[in-house]
Amino acid sequence: MIHRAPDHCWLLTTVVGAGIQADLKVFSAFGVYGMSAITAITVQNSSGVYQSIPVSSETVYSQIETVVTDIGIDAFKTGMLQTEDNVLAVSEAVKKFKMKNFVCDTVIKSKNGRYLLDKNAVKTFIKKIIPLTDVITPNTDEAQVLTGVHIKTVQDMKRAAKELVKMGAKVAVVKGGHLPQGDSITDVVYDGREYILLTYPAVKTENTHGTGCTFSSAITACLSKGLHPLKAVRVARAYVQGAIENALNIGKGRGSLNHFWTVR
Ligand SMILES: Nc1ncnc2c1ncn2[C@@H]1O[C@H](COP(=O)(O)OP(=O)(O)OP(=O)(O)O)[C@@H](O)[C@H]1O
Ligand SMILES: [Mg+2]
Repeated sequence: MIHRAPDHCWLLTTVVGAGIQADLKVFSAFGVYGMSAITAITVQNSSGVYQSIPVSSETVYSQIETVVTDIGIDAFKTGMLQTEDNVLAVSEAVKKFKMKNFVCDTVIKSKNGRYLLDKNAVKTFIKKIIPLTDVITPNTDEAQVLTGVHIKTVQDMKRAAKELVKMGAKVAVVKGGHLPQGDSITDVVYDGREYILLTYPAVKTENTHGTGCTFSSAITACLSKGLHPLKAVRVARAYVQGAIENALNIGKGRGSLNHFWTVR
C-alpha cells in the first residue's frame, strides 16, 4: 500500500466561523495538511463581525517564517489582513521565502458591512500584494474597490477581471454571489487569455457564512495537489456548491457551510 503524505497548505487569515476555522476544515476535507498564521483576532458569530484586533506585523512575519522554514509549504492563501503594516509584512515574507501558489482572498468588508481591511491599506494592498498572486478572488464589491470598475453585469465583471490581471494577478476570479442574477450565479474567471464563466444554480438559503473563505481555501488545497489554477478553480467551485447545498442551519444569523459534505 502507498500512503501519500498530505501536501502542506498554509494560510494567513483570521479566527472564527469563517476565516481560519473554515479554511482548516476545507484543507482537512481535501486531505491536505493545513497550517495558519493569525493576522487578526475577530469577535464574530453567524450574525456578523463585531470587533477585530490586529496582530502586530512582527508577529505575523515571525509566524510565517517559523512555519515556512520548518515544515515548508506547497500553496498558501491570505484572507483578512486588516492593517497596512500587515499587508507589508505578508508581502515581504512572500518574497523573502519565495512562497509559491498564492491564492489571495481580497477580504475588504464583512457581510454585515464592517471594514476588514483598513481604508488606508487598500493602495498598498494593490501595489504590494496583487502582483504576487496566482489566483485572486474578489467578490463584485471588492473588485469594484480594487479596480474602480462599476459592476452591475457579467460584462462589468469581465472588465474588472481583466483589470486585475493588468494589475499583476495571474488569474482573476470575480465572484458573483453579491450580484442579483436570478436563479443562477456566475463567477468570471480570466487568466489573461480567455474568460471562463462558471455558472451554478443559486441556492436559496441564508446559510452562507464563509462562502468566500471556503472557495479560496479549496482553490489553495487544489493548487497544493498540483492542479492547474484553472482546474483548481473549477474543482473548488463545485465543492463550494455542495457545501452551500448541504449548509448547516446553526446560529441566529447565517448558518455555516458544510465543509465535510463529501464525507458520508
Ligand atoms: N446562494 C448561493 N448559491 C450558490 N453559490 C453561491 C451562493 N452564494 C455564493 N455562491 C458562490 O460562493 C462563492 C463565494 O462567493 P461570494 O460572492 O459569496 O463570496 P464572498 O462575498 O467573498 O463571501 P464572504 O462574504 O464569505 O467573504 C462563489 O463561487 C459564489 O458564486
Ligand atoms: Mg469574501
